[in-house]
Order: sequence, then C-alpha cells, then structure tokens
Amino acid sequence: MLTPRAQRTLETIDGQTLDEMRALRDETERFMLRYKFGMDEVITKLSILREEFNQTHDYNPIEHISSRLKSLDSVIEKMARKGIEPNFDTIRETITDIAGVRVTCSFVSDAYRIFELLTAQRDIRVIKVKDYIKEPKPNGYQSLHVIVEVPVFLSTGPHPVAVEVQIRTIAMDFWASLEHKIYYKYDRQVPQELLDGLTDAAHTASELDARMERLHREVHGAPRLPHVPRDIAV
Ligand code: GTP
Ligand code: MG
Repeated sequence: MLTPRAQRTLETIDGQTLDEMRALRDETERFMLRYKFGMDEVITKLSILREEFNQTHDYNPIEHISSRLKSLDSVIEKMARKGIEPNFDTIRETITDIAGVRVTCSFVSDAYRIFELLTAQRDIRVIKVKDYIKEPKPNGYQSLHVIVEVPVFLSTGPHPVAVEVQIRTIAMDFWASLEHKIYYKYDRQVPQELLDGLTDAAHTASELDARMERLHREVHGAPRLPHVPRDIAV
C-alpha cells in the first residue's frame, strides 16, 4: 500500500514520465535476468563436472554448490558506495559480483582442480583471479575467487555475463560463515579479542585442511585425476 504522500506524488506524474518509468523497470529486469542466466550457465557447468567425476573417477571433488543473485537494493547501494554513474554499461563493467556462485570442496587440491577445469573451458573468459588460499587475507580469510565471463544466448544473440565464483574447502567455508555472522552482529566493530580468535581459528582450519588431505592421500594415494586440457575443443 502506498502512503497518502506517495499516492499524491503518483497522481502528479504525467503519462510520458509513467511510460519512461515502465521502460526503466523493464530494462532493469532484463539487465538482472541476464545475470541469473549467466549464473545458471556456470552452475550447469559445475554440476556436469561433478556428475561426470562421480561417474568416471568414482570420486566427488565438489561437496556443495550454492548461488545468489545480488538484490537490486544491494546493486544500488554498491553503486553509491563506489560512486558509479547510474547507467547499465558502467554497472556491468564495475560491479562484477551481481551473480555469485560458491563451490565447496573437501580438499584444497579439489578447489584448484575445479578452478582449472572451469576456466579451461573455451567459452569461459577469466576476468580476474584472487587467490586467498595462497595468500590469505590478514584476518585469515581463505578462498579462491575468480570472476568469469560466460556467454548467455538470448534471442538477440550472445551476451557475455560476469559471474563471481568462490571456491573453498568445507573448513574455509565454516570459518567464513561464522566470521560473516560475527561481523554483522557487531556491526563491523568486532572487539580485538574476537578478531584474534578468528584469525587463530583460520589457522586451525588451514591445518585441518592439510591434515585431512594427507590422510586422504594415505588412504587413496595421490589423486589420479585427468590432465586439464586447455581450450577444450568442441
Ligand atoms: P566486495 O566489493 O565486497 O565484493 O569485495 P572485493 O571486490 O574486494 O572482492 P573480494 O574478492 O575481496 O571479495 C569478494 C567476496 O568474497 C565478498 O563479497 C565476500 O563474499 C567474500 N569475502 C571477502 N573477504 C571476506 C572476509 O574477510 N570474510 C568473509 N566471510 N567473506 C569474505
Ligand atoms: Mg561482493
């Protein structure tokens, strides 16, 4: 329900402005939908790798895949925070995490393997890689981030869409979700003691990852996984 004030404002809007508002709404919906399609493409690629691995190698490198589309409010908020011009081309170029996919793996080697298999695909263009596994953030955050561009085939032709993929282990994911909750609970003003505790816990998670991988190798041997073909031919 509109407030009386909003209702009065609405009544002052002329027909042409209303048409322009509708056109903007439709364009915004189309803009956001492309990100959903790009996200779906990446999820399909990962799901295929997951299923094929299970079938061919009797091994599952992916534990879990989740995804989220940034809300329009968050896009607008980020636009304002970064001082970005409010036009679709600039948003497309600057905000590359509207579509986000998170892949959780059991082992660090699996995270890199999935990264390689995904980015080697010929229709995937790598825009940016941030390897927080090799170089964790000062707070202890670990994850392998890649912004990829994937073509989405619409009635108007192919449209490249940016998707942020975060690949991490279960232990890293456990840490990141707790840290995220604490960060918001304290409204970004986390007491130093807690911050230290979190950094310490990140080291423990990292040690756990290393131990689990060693144990896994003792039982199953070094991974006999396929060589990653670059630019897989169709
Ligand atoms: P944003 O503008 O916040 O998206 O960050 P960025 O452009 O500097 O990219 P970066 O690759 O550093 O982070 C992207 C995303 O990774 C964030 O939106 C979070 O989802 C996640 N992330 C990065 N750093 C942390 C962290 O310290 N803790 C947690 N829990 N998540 C993080
Ligand atoms: Mg982000």
